[in-house]
Amino acid sequence: KERGWGKAPYFYFFQNFWCPSISLQGVHNFQKYFQAKDNDVFVASFPKSGTTWLKALTFAIINCQHFESLVNHPLLTSNPHELVPFLEFSLVGDVDEKIVKLSHMTEPRNFATHLPFPSLPTSIKESNIRIIYICRNPFDTFVSGWHFFSIFMSESSHKITIEEAFERFCNGVIGFGPWWSHVLGYWKESITRPNKVLFLKYEDLKEDISFHVKRIADFLGCPFIEEEKGMMESIIKLCSFDKMKDLEVNKFGHHLKIIENKHFFRKGEIGDWVNHFSPSMIEKLSKIIEEKLSGSGLSFKTQS
Ligand code: A3P
Repeated sequence: KERGWGKAPYFYFFQNFWCPSISLQGVHNFQKYFQAKDNDVFVASFPKSGTTWLKALTFAIINCQHFESLVNHPLLTSNPHELVPFLEFSLVGDVDEKIVKLSHMTEPRNFATHLPFPSLPTSIKESNIRIIYICRNPFDTFVSGWHFFSIFMSESSHKITIEEAFERFCNGVIGFGPWWSHVLGYWKESITRPNKVLFLKYEDLKEDISFHVKRIADFLGCPFIEEEKGMMESIIKLCSFDKMKDLEVNKFGHHLKIIENKHFFRKGEIGDWVNHFSPSMIEKLSKIIEEKLSGSGLSFKTQS
């Protein structure tokens, strides 16, 4: 058990990852009661890697036949986290009723999780459900998390400095971390089971979103045909950072009554970490990442 910060007073080391105290019950219920269906689609990520963006894209792609004009699209009035819930956060309280509701949802069901691959419920690991994983270079992931979790520090007694938060990140002590174990778990799975796990990087999506939206649609078995190119372009625009950040629901709404939706949209850039890292921080994290990812074939772009 380690002290946390912001909304998570403690992190518990459990099944080889650091579970934020606020998610313990939800993780337990998700693992114990959730039953996967073969056509489920999961968005998985380490926090602050571009989950909100991927949720919006996945939801829009899966439902593109229902909202051809996009005028009444649910993403215009609901935050992506409402439409594609994290199950480890949703499955708290009266779980029986929630599990029944989940089993009656329109298919394909679209969910999300921050759980590391080995801790996913068995029915997810063993079924044919598809998982789309997004990760981001650890420098930007850390900085994005620092800003996000600092928002809650003003109302909490668990305050730390960026240097302390950085030390913890380097020791792996961060919600759902260590970062490298999370990323490598899904990376290995995507190599051995490419039809089950599609492994994406935030930086690649920023560089060529059309290519990756096509990849996601192909992976989900609903490729865009030539005549649907306009639809694909509209989805990309609808899910873009500027469009999403500017929607009323994302400017003024709340997620799970505790987080203002606006906090999910900060800068949306590659390389903001340069404004926060000292030379010694750069050296330290670069060394750790090089060592941890060595031999995996996985690397990250850290500048645009
Ligand atoms: P920054 O804090 O660097 O701006 P998550 O969704 O996993 O919580 O990650 C949040 C990060 O993704 C934030 O990064 C946020 O600004 C960025 N983001 C959110 N929506 C995005 C979008 N539509 N396009 C690109 N980046 C987005």
